[in-house]
Amino acid sequence: MTIEEELESLSFPEAPKIIVKPPGPKSLELLNIQHELETNSVTYPKAFRFAIDTARGATIRDVDGNYYIDWVAGIAVLNVGHNNPYVQQTVREQLDHYWHWMSEIPSEARIRFLRNLHSILPGDLRGKAKVIFGVTGADACETAIALARWVTKKPVIMAFEGAYHGIHQGIVAITAKTELQSYAGVPLINVARVPYPYPYRCPLPAKDSEDCGNAVLNYIDHLLSDPYTGIGEVGAILVEPIQGEGGYIVPPRNFLRGLREIADKHGILLIADEVQTGVGRTGRWWAVEHFGVTPDVMCISKAIGGGIPMSVVAYRAEYDEKLPEMFHLGTYRSNPLALAAGAAVIEYIQSRNLLNRTLQLGDYARRTFEDIAERYSIIGDVRGIGFMIGVELVKNKSTKEPGAELASEVRRRLFERGVLMHTCGHFGNVMRFMAPLVLTKRHLDEGTRIFEDVIRELSRETR
Ligand SMILES: Cc1ncc(COP(=O)(O)O)c(C=O)c1O
Repeated sequence: MTIEEELESLSFPEAPKIIVKPPGPKSLELLNIQHELETNSVTYPKAFRFAIDTARGATIRDVDGNYYIDWVAGIAVLNVGHNNPYVQQTVREQLDHYWHWMSEIPSEARIRFLRNLHSILPGDLRGKAKVIFGVTGADACETAIALARWVTKKPVIMAFEGAYHGIHQGIVAITAKTELQSYAGVPLINVARVPYPYPYRCPLPAKDSEDCGNAVLNYIDHLLSDPYTGIGEVGAILVEPIQGEGGYIVPPRNFLRGLREIADKHGILLIADEVQTGVGRTGRWWAVEHFGVTPDVMCISKAIGGGIPMSVVAYRAEYDEKLPEMFHLGTYRSNPLALAAGAAVIEYIQSRNLLNRTLQLGDYARRTFEDIAERYSIIGDVRGIGFMIGVELVKNKSTKEPGAELASEVRRRLFERGVLMHTCGHFGNVMRFMAPLVLTKRHLDEGTRIFEDVIRELSRETR
């Protein structure tokens, strides 16, 4: 079997196929019961009105028998697809051994995962890093910040407009152990917020994309150089190498390298949040690799557990001596099933050469979206690398007025035709393509054809 044949066999061949307009009666019943029993404060069941029966590869079947092409991947988690047989087999084998004890005790699964992860770390972190486990992406980012504050003894974290790093509230501030509180949790007063170079909507005056990157870099350098800017002592810059929830924004080429230089110049740690961009999503293991930059600390989660919650912070080994033994705690860190799944995810991507495939098919997907964008006035911008592509909708191409309602309508109509695609962005007006990397070309073409149909309809209606 060729790799393409194998990938074809992972997904439901029927998708997309809608036999009853979603939500069908069975979905509706489950949605209603959920609504009675669970908080109203849910987001996804309002955006995608269905209940899931089974998921395979890059496809999902709902409880009413409808089949969908999945371009969401559990929010960039299922990089090797739903129910990946290799991951499933590895997890089953681990289930046979044990699935929880005390989180830090070694096992073969732990060492296999650690070896695999170390072998794919970027630049000089490979072979020279240490890692520490967590459970969620937010957990990883909090740990990374606490680590930077312990190491530098400087309290302020520089972060970007449009950033998303999670919503844990620094619960450690309430935990009654002074030593743990000192460098963990970041009260707002210790955040220095700076613009992110968003080429389509540059927040500072700039003539082009590179200029936008330089303008932001100059501003950051000024903030850190002038003792009268009032931002306090900055210990770390926390950056998404490609902004995720903020709108799938690819920064200008010069930007991350410039940040690296600024961090070095001012003795600041550079933390890359690769929670959404990592584990092959952009056609490299890590998005920072596209920019030739190695961070000092890296936050990893989502795809690394293959769908079982796990996160990791990788950092330069020399920081180890500054960290106390009890630096980070947590009952569920590094669950053995997640470790097994994570090791299998890395092996699967390597053995099927999925990185190259993601680069090439992602390039083809981006060009397809760009071609569509040329034909319709409601698409203002298309950007992305690998399987991380943003399509920004606007009411008017020349004014760039954001089309948030348009995006929810595109999402709804795609859903009704069997394509799952979610939104993001500062204004909620960006459609994001984040399919499992095992998506077949056939499902990509079918999905983009349906996408264009929906855009065509809406362009006519809004004229
Ligand atoms: C870049 C980034 N960092 C952190 C997080 C938070 O991860 P979690 O939802 O697992 O807490 C997310 C979630 O989408 C993310 O995209």
